[in-house]
Amino acid sequence: MTDKIQTLISQMTLAEKAALCTGDSMWTTTAVARLNIPRLLVSDGPHGLRRVANVHAVMEKSQPATCFPTASSLAATWDVALLHEMGQALAAEAIALDVDVILGPGVNMKRTPLCGRNFEYFSEDPYLAGEMAAALINGIQSKGVGTSLKHFAANNQEFERFSISAEVDERTLREIYLPAFETAVTKAQPWTVMCAYNKVNGTYASEHHQLLTDILRDEWGFAGFVVSDWGAVHDRVAALQAGLDLEMPGPKKARVQAVIEAVNMGELDEAVLDTAVGRILRIVFKAAETPKTRLEAGQNSRFDVAAHHALACKVAAAGIVLLKNNGVLPLQNPQHIAVIGRAAQTPHFQGGGSSHINPTQVDVPFAELQKLAASAELSFAPGYPADDSFQQALIDEAVTIAQTADVALLYMALPGFKESEGYDRPDLDLTGQQVALIKAVTAVQPRTVVILNNGAAVTMSDWIEGAAAVLEAWMMGQAGGGAIANVLFGRANPGGKLAETYPLRLGDTPAYLNFPGENGVVRYGEGLFIGYRYYDAREQPVLFPFGYGLSYTTFAYSNPLVSASTFKDTDGVTVSVDVTNTGTMAGEEIVQVYVHDQKARLVRPYKELKGFAKVMLQPSETKTVTIPLNFRAFAYYDPAYQQWIAEDGEFDILIGASAADIRASLTVTLQSTAVRPSILHRESTIRAWMDDPRGQAVLGPFFQQMMTQGGGLFGGGDLGETEFIGMNPMDFLLDMPLLSVLHFQSDSLPQTPEELVDGLLQQVHQGT
Ligand code: BGC
Repeated sequence: MTDKIQTLISQMTLAEKAALCTGDSMWTTTAVARLNIPRLLVSDGPHGLRRVANVHAVMEKSQPATCFPTASSLAATWDVALLHEMGQALAAEAIALDVDVILGPGVNMKRTPLCGRNFEYFSEDPYLAGEMAAALINGIQSKGVGTSLKHFAANNQEFERFSISAEVDERTLREIYLPAFETAVTKAQPWTVMCAYNKVNGTYASEHHQLLTDILRDEWGFAGFVVSDWGAVHDRVAALQAGLDLEMPGPKKARVQAVIEAVNMGELDEAVLDTAVGRILRIVFKAAETPKTRLEAGQNSRFDVAAHHALACKVAAAGIVLLKNNGVLPLQNPQHIAVIGRAAQTPHFQGGGSSHINPTQVDVPFAELQKLAASAELSFAPGYPADDSFQQALIDEAVTIAQTADVALLYMALPGFKESEGYDRPDLDLTGQQVALIKAVTAVQPRTVVILNNGAAVTMSDWIEGAAAVLEAWMMGQAGGGAIANVLFGRANPGGKLAETYPLRLGDTPAYLNFPGENGVVRYGEGLFIGYRYYDAREQPVLFPFGYGLSYTTFAYSNPLVSASTFKDTDGVTVSVDVTNTGTMAGEEIVQVYVHDQKARLVRPYKELKGFAKVMLQPSETKTVTIPLNFRAFAYYDPAYQQWIAEDGEFDILIGASAADIRASLTVTLQSTAVRPSILHRESTIRAWMDDPRGQAVLGPFFQQMMTQGGGLFGGGDLGETEFIGMNPMDFLLDMPLLSVLHFQSDSLPQTPEELVDGLLQQVHQGT
């Protein structure tokens, strides 16, 4: 802690310190005028600023700001440089709108596509989500504006989000639900982390010492402050003790009083409060180093609105995923285009809830099409109503304009009543009217392109057959209309790939039997197996795999190489591959590297994403892509050892264009440098003893002697004789605890079985 902060803390009264740890309004911390401690102003987040001028308001219309594409779209870009650039633009807007900290990004895993808030999250894969978040945070913070990484942790659904307990085993937490946070913290040091509303294994995230202190700070080295999600604190003192520094929103006199009393009663060590105060003050003064523009009534935004809109368009185009194309795209000079779907005139470009932005301007998809198709005749039919009603007349009208057109463009947005913060989705389908509309239009117009606006996977089995092309455009931000037009007319080549699997049906999804939980508990019964990890393990077909996306060009992979065929876990290894654009249009390819462990002590997913690179190629151009793989690319978290372990042995490095399109496989041998303590104990089975090199060394001779001695379980016989129990007794014994085996022998043993096992264990542990 710097001297300045220490001095300030020593000058603050207990009441001032307690007050600093609770907000002063909906969006500000408490200022202490007599000590020149300014307030800190925070604002949602994550894909644009929702800055309300009145800091005591929550529902008020916010100041105009650029609505960038939401996280689903950002993740589909797989473009860390672009996210960094977008982060810088967000920071410029924060500075112009007098915002110190942006409340985002959100890196919760897409455990199920039903989570209503998936549009604000990146991926079903922790590696991809972590890299995307780190890039965005680094971009924002490089300009002196802070971020709040949220919602820590295991906040993967909206159902009962304020209270539900996510029951998740330690290994799953470490390998699936925490790594995106870990990467963001270790690679980008967000100024703040926001705790989740829910409980994790029975304890509120806001009071979770293991999460907020042991893991976040002690293991990962987080140096900022932890803020509560809005209203996530239940017991203020317990939260402080667990490592939650700032409660939001405020003011809350009772909370401040509770802290004061706890210190006075000796229930809360004042040093704990001082630590929280120090963390908050550090960020308050860090933020003050970047001067902000004070908002004046009626004043126009002081950022480059046009440049940011153009950037939002670039990002939206980069995130569009071409899911199907029978050759209809890019459009070849159509003369009559039937534009169908409300979303073509009333774009659905963001989700409902705390991230809802008042955009500076909005591209209307229909108008953007008109700009690029100046010579074509465009007709429009809304096709479906704003509500959930079924209106055949709208379908009939759309069919009429579709059948005489050269091509039909169907803009299908999943309505807000089916997907939003605050509630989960009832199913994975478009509305009944939308499905009927697509079927009716494709029946009369074979050249139909379906353009989707949604935040997470939708099912398509009912209608995809009839569609000539499908574009996933996500909740695409305010400039998405232009981005779609650019892609349709080939001005932009779609280069996005899915950051989440598209299942064939809801019943196929990993959490189907364990969602949304009941009686206050949701059990993460699928464990490690979410997303492609699940579909791989079940060998289950999907609609579109993770990492999938088409382009207007094609790419060939060649010359896959690895820097060493045998390497030490601490050194890691580097993979490279040549990628050639074999088509006629410039385009971007996203190369993905997955790792498959051939043999491990614990069950592992078949493969896991551990690296990727995006590369821009002109027609016929070849570039070499190089991707480093470090220790963690090969490791799993072993709860028995309480550590990450990369075991000796062979691994396959799979280089792919998607999770289901592996273009090359390289086998490498890893040499582990870690010396691990033995975890053998009194109840360990013979198999566990034999699997442990030290255990084997100790038990081998002892066991041999025991067998030859005979008696008890061995009946004095030769273990090679199998007829008398119809099996190999060795196989039979392997899964019995050594102690139980010895109990069958107890009369012929010189010591009790317990003494013998303890003696053997002692020999093993002496060697560690
Ligand atoms: C959301 C957060 C948001 C906060 C402030 C909460 O309800 O979960 O993501 O930052 O409100 O608006």
